[in-house]
Amino acid sequence: MKIRIKREKSKEKKPYIEEFEIDKEETILNALIEVKEKKDNSFAFRCGCKTGVCGSCAVRVNGTERLACKTHFKDNDLVEPLNNAKVIKDLIVDLEHEYKLLENSETFLHKASSGQITKSDEKLIDTQSNCILCQSCFSSCPVYEVNKDFLGPYSLTRALRYVNDKKESNSAPILEKIQNNGIWDCTLCGNCTLVCPQFIDPKSDIMNLRMKSVQKGYEDKSIASFNSGFDTGFDSFGGFNPNGF
Ligand code: SF4
Ligand code: SF4
Ligand code: FES
Repeated sequence: MKIRIKREKSKEKKPYIEEFEIDKEETILNALIEVKEKKDNSFAFRCGCKTGVCGSCAVRVNGTERLACKTHFKDNDLVEPLNNAKVIKDLIVDLEHEYKLLENSETFLHKASSGQITKSDEKLIDTQSNCILCQSCFSSCPVYEVNKDFLGPYSLTRALRYVNDKKESNSAPILEKIQNNGIWDCTLCGNCTLVCPQFIDPKSDIMNLRMKSVQKGYEDKSIASFNSGFDTGFDSFGGFNPNGF
């Protein structure tokens, strides 16, 4: 069987695709380990738990973000590093910028409440708390490609987690932080939701945060841009023109 891997060994050398013949392996991660151990020990990739809980082995397989340890290997698969991040070497990308965005969204406990936390309160934040920070959603996001300051799907999902957390008695700073380069910049394309290995739905979380923001008096910027940028087909002289010209 054959695996194709995008290699990038140094800044001086351009990225290229290299093919390796390997034994029949069950997962992409096992195939990568075989390449490292038996074919080329200079090959670089990340992995930790090997059971889908640490998020460190996220790569793109045939163009889609996947956890290598949870992805069945097929002959001729193409494995590439995540998108929207600087490649350090081969499949290893620099995650520093993304962690900075997480910091910028202020997604942490600001002021602990003294109230009792019930089981149903815990359920409110259960799904979003399962994020393993694998960065697959970032890699798939088209907005991040054009705006490096966009807070991005996992920061926003995490923002909802803290806004809904009953232990937090002051969520105002979190909502404030996600108004610019945040919830209103998302195109609601749903790529992030499709690739999340934890079945988190960042697109719905962002829509939820938009609703909460409007309830708190923030401007719905999606409606503002809709009114100014979209030709509705009406004009003051000739009435409705369905073709918009
Ligand atoms: S839904 Fe929004 S956050 Fe998710 S990938 Fe699309 S643009 Fe990015
Ligand atoms: S939201 Fe899902 S895809 Fe995004 S970092 Fe968390 S686990 Fe990964
Ligand atoms: S090695 Fe931990 S998620 Fe794959």
